Amino acid sequence: MTVVHGGNIYELSARAGCSPDDILDFSASINPLGPPPGLAQILSGCFHRLASYPDIHNKLLIEAISKFHDIDPEYIAVGNGSTELIYWLPRALAVSKALVVLPTFGEYAKAFDLQGTRRQKLFSTPEDRFQPTVRQLEAALQKDAFEAVLLTHPASPSGSLLDSETISWIAENSSKSRRPFFLIDEVFIDFCEQASLKRFLDRSQNLAIIRSFTKFYGAPGLRIGYLLAPPQVAAQVRSHLPPWSVNTLAQAAGAYCFAQDEYRHKTLDLIAKQRQRLAGELSAIAGLKVFPAQANYLLVRMDRRLPPASRLKWDIFERDRILIRDCGSFEGLDDWYFRVAVRLEDQNDRLIAAVQRAL
Ligand SMILES: Cc1ncc(COP(=O)(O)O)c(C=O)c1O
Repeated sequence: MTVVHGGNIYELSARAGCSPDDILDFSASINPLGPPPGLAQILSGCFHRLASYPDIHNKLLIEAISKFHDIDPEYIAVGNGSTELIYWLPRALAVSKALVVLPTFGEYAKAFDLQGTRRQKLFSTPEDRFQPTVRQLEAALQKDAFEAVLLTHPASPSGSLLDSETISWIAENSSKSRRPFFLIDEVFIDFCEQASLKRFLDRSQNLAIIRSFTKFYGAPGLRIGYLLAPPQVAAQVRSHLPPWSVNTLAQAAGAYCFAQDEYRHKTLDLIAKQRQRLAGELSAIAGLKVFPAQANYLLVRMDRRLPPASRLKWDIFERDRILIRDCGSFEGLDDWYFRVAVRLEDQNDRLIAAVQRAL
């Protein structure tokens, strides 16, 4: 099974005969400020430690995560990006059948398939802001028995949050019994941390929250992800993970970045302002509808009379070296949707001009 991703600047630059640095990438949703200032010194300061194995217990990294979230270390499991955890979760939690709310990150399908987990699809709709309703969830759970329910919060690729009714329903159901597990992908929740379901962890038995360092800290190349889950569940996942999957540089980077409050505030301010501006400018282009979003990306639906998003993508890539994410490969969407990251003001202006010109 091949999973399509945004951000494949290496493949595209080779194809276009340019450098990856020439591409302005709106197809992967990464903090446009890049990693926090001072990180390069931290990494060079621990360069000599590459001559030893990383700390097998990830102690400093787990302590930093624990402090940041005010959650005890036994609630935490760390991995090589959240993708590594996504691949181990079905096996660690013995999930033979899962209810998967779509659209979502494409690797879930492959991770479930590889573990032989049967997937029942629940398609969210534009009318419900691409999040499931309690009615839909209850109906699916009444019809069939599932060991896990996968939700994405904020949704990917729309950026919408679960509504308060669904959140209360998850909180209630995850405190009652051990099954189904509620697997909540909160990889982008750092952009609206107050909405995180982590606040229910101390009274839940079967809530597992998938988090990432990648997006907010502008460092997908470092590969740090973590799980927040009740101690028994976190221990079960930890027992499946291979040793040293988070390397020495990533451990040090994580410990440093979680303490960067000023960077965090600057990021939140920038994204909130630019998201509003970019959404306004894109909505003003005839035939485009932008969905309200709480993270650092926007989902756009195109009028069917316009050429599809894959055409738009190649037009602006070839002419402007700007890359957007056409969404035809998301189960539950089609080629008249595209997603763009929220970036710096001048970069967003270049995107808007390119889309205006192409359409
Ligand atoms: C919704 C979602 N979940 C998980 C991931 C995996 O991120 P990472 O492995 O870098 O933590 C991605 C990456 O694009 C994503 O979009």
